[in-house]
Amino acid sequence: MNHTRKRLYLSPPHLGSAEADFVGDAFASNWIAPLGPHVDAFEREFARAIGVPHAAALSSGTAALHLALRLVGVQPGDTVICPTLTFCASANPIVYEGGTPVFIDADSATWNIDPGLLRAELDDCAKRGCLPKAVIAVDLYGQCADYDAILEACARYDVPLIEDAAEALGATYRGRPAGTFGACAAFSFNGNKIITTSGGGMLVGQDPILVERARFLATQARDPAPHYEHSQVGYNYRLSNVLAAIGRGQLAVLSERVAARRRIFDYYREALADVPGLDFMPQAPYGQSNCWLTCITIDRERFGTSRNEILHAMDMDNIEVRPVWKPLHLQPAFAGCRARGGDMAQQLFECGLCLPSGSAMTEDDMDRVIAVIRRLCPHCRKGARGSAGALSSQTRKAAVATFAEPAARVCGPRTQTSKPRVPHMPLP
Ligand SMILES: Cc1ncc(COP(=O)(O)O)c(C=O)c1O
Repeated sequence: MNHTRKRLYLSPPHLGSAEADFVGDAFASNWIAPLGPHVDAFEREFARAIGVPHAAALSSGTAALHLALRLVGVQPGDTVICPTLTFCASANPIVYEGGTPVFIDADSATWNIDPGLLRAELDDCAKRGCLPKAVIAVDLYGQCADYDAILEACARYDVPLIEDAAEALGATYRGRPAGTFGACAAFSFNGNKIITTSGGGMLVGQDPILVERARFLATQARDPAPHYEHSQVGYNYRLSNVLAAIGRGQLAVLSERVAARRRIFDYYREALADVPGLDFMPQAPYGQSNCWLTCITIDRERFGTSRNEILHAMDMDNIEVRPVWKPLHLQPAFAGCRARGGDMAQQLFECGLCLPSGSAMTEDDMDRVIAVIRRLCPHCRKGARGSAGALSSQTRKAAVATFAEPAARVCGPRTQTSKPRVPHMPLP
């Protein structure tokens, strides 16, 4: 690995100046924990920023999703529908509550939950009298799912929608902000997100009773009494006053962060427009992605090199890239869970790549990434800049052995099937 060059991270924190002032205030006032004025202000300002009446600041996006499932009444034995192409935290809280996820494939036009398959799954569930307790939609890589179609399918069977907008703060769908579509929605302020509190999350909703109940559950479900009285089991899920102070500073520059990520996406797209076999995650016409991560797919036949070789070359050049999420129906932790479809998500995993997209990236940083890609494409070598160079046959072998072969359609013809296809599990 080339350690002489600065490490380019996928999505590092990007702090401004206001954060330190707010944190300084928390220290000066001795309100560093637990809750406090910055938590209250962060909730108010966040709710205003995305146009929802109520928000509860929490310790993580996962905690927000967990509480959302509790709020809609998920219980042991219930099923909950979730897209397969997402981070594990979208589905883990279903299991925390003793529920079972049912995974739905990605739509090739958006990479989000396929509304047609969701509708078909709900129709089948209704026929069998086993409707899911909730549907989780994820706004993947900062792009909203297709809410008109999803809400229509959910409304047909009166199944509540939970929006996992962890990656999508600042995105819109038909002009409406991400996080305003479900019964409630979850955001993440994990260190890699578009704004961060180092770790944290927010649960938002229209219903004041629902959000107040989330606060109650997140504070160990402490009943009003002078002593510690608990009629229910709760969690320690609230955000600290110090972290909320960071969040306030970050929120103040959200629109700048979104604009920067969108510029990064446009820069990559322009610089790589002529590269054969390289495509970008589709931008759905119904909204504006926050472009949290710029994602590409590589068709090995047309590009001339596999996605895995790009991964390896980036690593050699001290650049962090990641394959697109491994579908949850292929994760051992969810073995045995039912999946409807799954091939599209699998193909995207096999040939998709997330490029460094941090909002503080410079053009030189992006040029380094672009140079690696262009050098690995035999048809682009003449115009290449940067230091990646052609791979030796040994490194090629090592890179190719690490990951599965690309699949057909998105990635070009499948030369070898590395894993048996996961059979679609029978309905419960
Ligand atoms: C889609 C998605 N859902 C949920 C989460 C969980 O958020 P957190 O890390 O804040 O718990 C993340 C990110 O981490 C995510 O990307």
